[in-house]
Amino acid sequence: MSIVDDDIVSNPSPNESLLEVLEARVSRRRFLGGSVVAAAAATFGGGISTLLQATPALAAPLGFTGIPTSTLDTVVVPPGYRWEVLIAWGDPVSDGPAFLPDAGNSAADQAVQWGMHNDGLVYFPFTALGELYAANGLVAQALDRRPPGQLAGLFFDWERGSSTHGLLVQNHEYTDDGLLFPDGVANWTAAKTTKSLAAHGVSVIEVEKLNGTWRVRRPSRFARRITGSTPIAIGGPAAGHPLLRTAADETGTLVLGTLNNCAMGYTPWGTYLACEENFNGYFRKAAPPNALEARYGISAAGFGYLWHTTDNRFQVDVVPNEPNRFGWVTEIDPVRPASTPVKRTALGRMKHEGAWVTQTRAQRVVVYMGDDERFEYIYRYVSEKPWRQAIFQGESPLDKGTLFVAKFNADGTGQWLPLTTANPALSAFPTQADILINARAAADAAGATKMDRPEWIDVRHDQLEVFVTLTNNSQRGTPGRPPVDAANPRPSNVYGHVLRWRYANDFDEPTFAWDIFVLAGDPAVAAHGSTIIGDKFGSPDGLYVDPNDRLWIQTDVSTSTINAGAYAGFGNNQMLAADPATKEIRRFLVGPSQCEVTGAMSTPDATTMFVGIQHPGERPDDRPADPANPTQFSSFPGGPGSSRPRSSLIVVTKADGGQVGS
Ligand code: FEO
Ligand code: CA
Ligand code: CA
Repeated sequence: MSIVDDDIVSNPSPNESLLEVLEARVSRRRFLGGSVVAAAAATFGGGISTLLQATPALAAPLGFTGIPTSTLDTVVVPPGYRWEVLIAWGDPVSDGPAFLPDAGNSAADQAVQWGMHNDGLVYFPFTALGELYAANGLVAQALDRRPPGQLAGLFFDWERGSSTHGLLVQNHEYTDDGLLFPDGVANWTAAKTTKSLAAHGVSVIEVEKLNGTWRVRRPSRFARRITGSTPIAIGGPAAGHPLLRTAADETGTLVLGTLNNCAMGYTPWGTYLACEENFNGYFRKAAPPNALEARYGISAAGFGYLWHTTDNRFQVDVVPNEPNRFGWVTEIDPVRPASTPVKRTALGRMKHEGAWVTQTRAQRVVVYMGDDERFEYIYRYVSEKPWRQAIFQGESPLDKGTLFVAKFNADGTGQWLPLTTANPALSAFPTQADILINARAAADAAGATKMDRPEWIDVRHDQLEVFVTLTNNSQRGTPGRPPVDAANPRPSNVYGHVLRWRYANDFDEPTFAWDIFVLAGDPAVAAHGSTIIGDKFGSPDGLYVDPNDRLWIQTDVSTSTINAGAYAGFGNNQMLAADPATKEIRRFLVGPSQCEVTGAMSTPDATTMFVGIQHPGERPDDRPADPANPTQFSSFPGGPGSSRPRSSLIVVTKADGGQVGS
């Protein structure tokens, strides 16, 4: 495929400086802006049936030897590949204090250490200009004064960026407070709440490959922790809304922290998007929940966290609007460690899995988002203006635009239903802000299709094609629950599926064609109804289209059913590679005991893949780990004799230096 990176000739933005022009180059793939999309439209312009049939062969198909399932307490990769831990929970992100094996680090230590339970990740490669910035303090000072977005572009010529030096940003979705302290959840104190908040959020680390080995650069001017206590601005249409105001923030524009960030996204202007998922679990409300709270799962029991016992803002009876300030997408500029992150409310409030960004030929940004709960929805945001135009006018492309929700019709077509005050179905919502704060209810009213837990989404840009994992839904078709439909065709869907849709001409079209890419399960067991061509798996969650269009699938079988019950014989959670043309699926990696494999992104040259190993050793009964026996279910990555399991970021490479997956 040809490289398209100079489309800025037709850029509507005014008078760019030479530096800005240099910065403004974009990846041909992730942020494709022109002729390749047009060529794809010409190829697939023959109607719906043609849309989903014509998938040209991959230039670099799967080349590795698939591996068997595994129940080992370690990472397994194919022959000719190797893996190593880059950083694990508690390691310093820069030159801070070291991890104490008994989990005795203080809250202040944790606030400068890698958080717990890492999830979605993005590798931001340095460019030559970025290297100059990193090395030269005066250059850095000058560039730091430039507006947000423009500086980030310095580092974000993704495809031409470095495959040996960059910033790695990763979410810390949640904590196991049984592992976080020497005595677990016993003797809970305010200091414990503070440390648990500090183990949440996002980390930025500087990574480099030296003499063939990846390492974290320490110290680093870019290293940063954003936690559950970091001040974060609220932007977009819902900023300042009465439902977002609290006694501590009467303006409704500044919130402390970002929580339960699951997957992620990144923008063409080089920022990171952290996506708040199960935020409701931290809050408690003793009184019956109101309709808004009930729609987002606020309850008396929460998920068992004890923060509310020392911090009133997690007691909804005391601070009723605090939960409304969570459930958003937070934008972070990774190259400005002092910048204030912003919750972008135009993207709607839900249990965000992630926010995957592409752009139209006119350079409007398009963001795809799943709401991960049974019978929830898939959303799309389209910016009002071309993103460069918005940025040069001092606006965020993520503040002004239209939110849509997906409806999948039985005939293989689909449509995007606008969630705006102009939609007659939403006449009960007085303002756009009210729609965004209760996006779930708006989507209900619009008539969206209830899905089997939408998880990750990714895009094959040149094919105008989008994939989504629907991890499972054991309640589909059960009494009192929605029945099967064409897009969610299995009752009691315990293995999940992957669905895809495709456009005829561009990513902002109101309609699309869709089909089911694969139904998961064991293809050797007829009762599973699996359509897998290749290796068995279930509960697909992480999804990543690499620079060669290989489709990587990561699994999140619940710790209560790993290798048990319906999942007996499936082994530990895993990562597979799929060929989107032939649909062959081959097992590439298996994680350690009781982990989830989540988070994947390669370097531009595809010779390194960063992969997240989350919650090794998590108890099968969903309770906090036993501090008296923390290695009961895993001692990854330290191995036997280590003190406790630790979520880790690993790097996978091919021993001969080739591309991962080849
Ligand atoms: Fe955090 Fe939907 O997985
Ligand atoms: Ca997930
Ligand atoms: Ca999941």
